[in-house]
Amino acid sequence: MKVKRVYSIAIDGPAGAGKSTIAKRVASELGFVYVDTGAIYRTVGYHMDLMGIGPKDRDGIERLLDDVNLELCYGEDGLQHMILNGHDVTDEIRTPAMSRIASTISAQPCVREFLLDMQRDLARKNNVIMDGRDIGTVVLPCADVKIFLTASPEVRATRRLKDLERKGEKTTHKAVLADIIQRDHQDSTRAIAPLKQAEDAILLDTSELNLEQAIQAVIALVRQRIVL
Ligand code: DC
Repeated sequence: MKVKRVYSIAIDGPAGAGKSTIAKRVASELGFVYVDTGAIYRTVGYHMDLMGIGPKDRDGIERLLDDVNLELCYGEDGLQHMILNGHDVTDEIRTPAMSRIASTISAQPCVREFLLDMQRDLARKNNVIMDGRDIGTVVLPCADVKIFLTASPEVRATRRLKDLERKGEKTTHKAVLADIIQRDHQDSTRAIAPLKQAEDAILLDTSELNLEQAIQAVIALVRQRIVL
């Protein structure tokens, strides 16, 4: 029997480095499935928040995890939609409050364990480009291409601010920068699966690149390593 080979690309990096925008475009150019794992953590956080369970309440979270039924589906626009217990929560999870909740809840070992198989399963069945914090280190340690995408905190805050303003959120560069620094710290100092560059990942700093340049840089790195 001939086993079909699937490829996986892992993109990790801190908040606001442009991972999802870049990964989405690269996925569509290469015909890969894009998996935004941050959205999955956000959805778990959203459910707990809805149920009145705080992101540090380990017992409460453990008790309610079995009620979380998550589905990823892809619209005609290629966008990943998060379906939580039958409801599309794609927009609701994109607020600064949900960013903070997702970051805190993602430090809970039971949450990480709950989501691990789901992420690996997606990569077993599809050519994927998956972005997150621990994809190259924990979720897909054998990924064919690993990229650690970063940019200076100031540049990341500027980009995030533009996204939030586009959505009509009122905030300031100072507040967004403080959030980013706090989230970087929390994500990279947690005990389990912290944000860090895998030893075999390629570091790509996009501080000086515009979006198109960053996309082309990632595609070039992928094409050097995978023949499609
Ligand atoms: O990528 P994002 O900003 O949507 O992620 C939200 C939070 O989820 C992030 O601050 C940490 C957590 N996360 C994680 O711990 N591991 C991942 N693979 C992806 C996200």
